[in-house]
Amino acid sequence: MTFAFGIGIGTQNQKGEWLEAFYQSPLYLPDATLAELAGNTLGYQGGNKALDASDEQLKQFAEGLRRAGFEDQAKLAEKAVGSQRPAVVTVLENDDTASSTPEVYLKLQLISHRLVRPHGLKLDGIFGLLPNLAWTNEGAIDLDELPERQMDARIAGRLLEVKSVDKFPQMTDYVVPKGVRIADTARVRLGAYVGEGTTVMHEGFINFNAGTEGPGMIEGRISAGVVIGSGSDLGGGCSTMGTLSGGGNIIISVGDNCLIGANAGIGVPLGDRCTVEAGLYLTAGTKVAVLDDENNVVKVLKARDLANKSDLLFRRNSENGAVECKTNKSAVELNDQLHANN
Ligand SMILES: CC(C)(COP(=O)(O)OP(=O)(O)OC[C@H]1O[C@@H](n2cnc3c(N)ncnc32)[C@H](O)[C@@H]1OP(=O)(O)O)[C@@H](O)C(=O)NCCC(=O)NCCS
Repeated sequence: MTFAFGIGIGTQNQKGEWLEAFYQSPLYLPDATLAELAGNTLGYQGGNKALDASDEQLKQFAEGLRRAGFEDQAKLAEKAVGSQRPAVVTVLENDDTASSTPEVYLKLQLISHRLVRPHGLKLDGIFGLLPNLAWTNEGAIDLDELPERQMDARIAGRLLEVKSVDKFPQMTDYVVPKGVRIADTARVRLGAYVGEGTTVMHEGFINFNAGTEGPGMIEGRISAGVVIGSGSDLGGGCSTMGTLSGGGNIIISVGDNCLIGANAGIGVPLGDRCTVEAGLYLTAGTKVAVLDDENNVVKVLKARDLANKSDLLFRRNSENGAVECKTNKSAVELNDQLHANN
């Protein structure tokens, strides 16, 4: 068994360093024969490797793939022959820490193709392998080479539009997974996992290694590492706390059929059918008064003690300011018409 495999077309800078790589059909846990074929024609000798491939090698590789019954991959190898951008064949024997840019791009695309769920891959050390780039209407450009490219474009009567300057591109330039609606594509980064039936509105954001089971309505921020269960609704401008910066270390998740109100936020994982009142930011240390059905305080806990528990409604008492938790009697139901994605 091979861990992952992809035939890609990428971009290199003038020094021949990889900037990014696109894999039309990445494969997860494919037949080991693919690695053998890469050994026969591309000099692959095991390990995790991004292999350069000349046109002649790609032709031979395509023949080998076709003979072995990998028709789709054979077509990809054939298509790559004569490409104006460099081709790369990336073979991962295991999930070890990546050591090249094309490897990282393969891993991020495995997640966005929904072949692997968030947290399913080793992504430590990827920042060092993802160059900060200008993402333009002519593709990825090394920042040192940008002024010259801008000038060249002007001279040719074109405008080079820089859409973003970032280590991660937008996901939709690599894959649009089936059955999703994304109002502003710049707000979903490559490496996001967008489940079928997910709608991401303009205010919504999904970072890499994070996402939704689907269906769901996302009008708030899904930070790196956060996963949202099916049927949940993230209200406008709400926030899920990430663990990449700011010292937080609890991995946040949201269960099924939850509602996080507009401008609310969570720093604790929620179970199923929970609601957080609009505007309430629930941090792990927030003291929460737990109420019974008659609104009497039963006990006071920290929000982290209620982590992953289901059927809870959190609100800030508008008379005394205390954060309260009650049994949630009206779990969210998504509006079918709004959430239809086809
Ligand atoms: C928290 C929330 C779910 C409560 O809604 P609800 O369950 O429908 O509750 P109601 O507004 O009917 O209120 C029930 C009772 O609790 C009281 N109550 C509600 N919120 C309260 C608060 N923060 N403090 C004190 N009392 C409150 C109401 O006054 C009402 O009292 P009553 O029984 O005496 O009439 C709702 O206020 C909310 O924030 N929803 C989020 C919506 C949202 O942001 N969607 C995303 C859009 S982008």
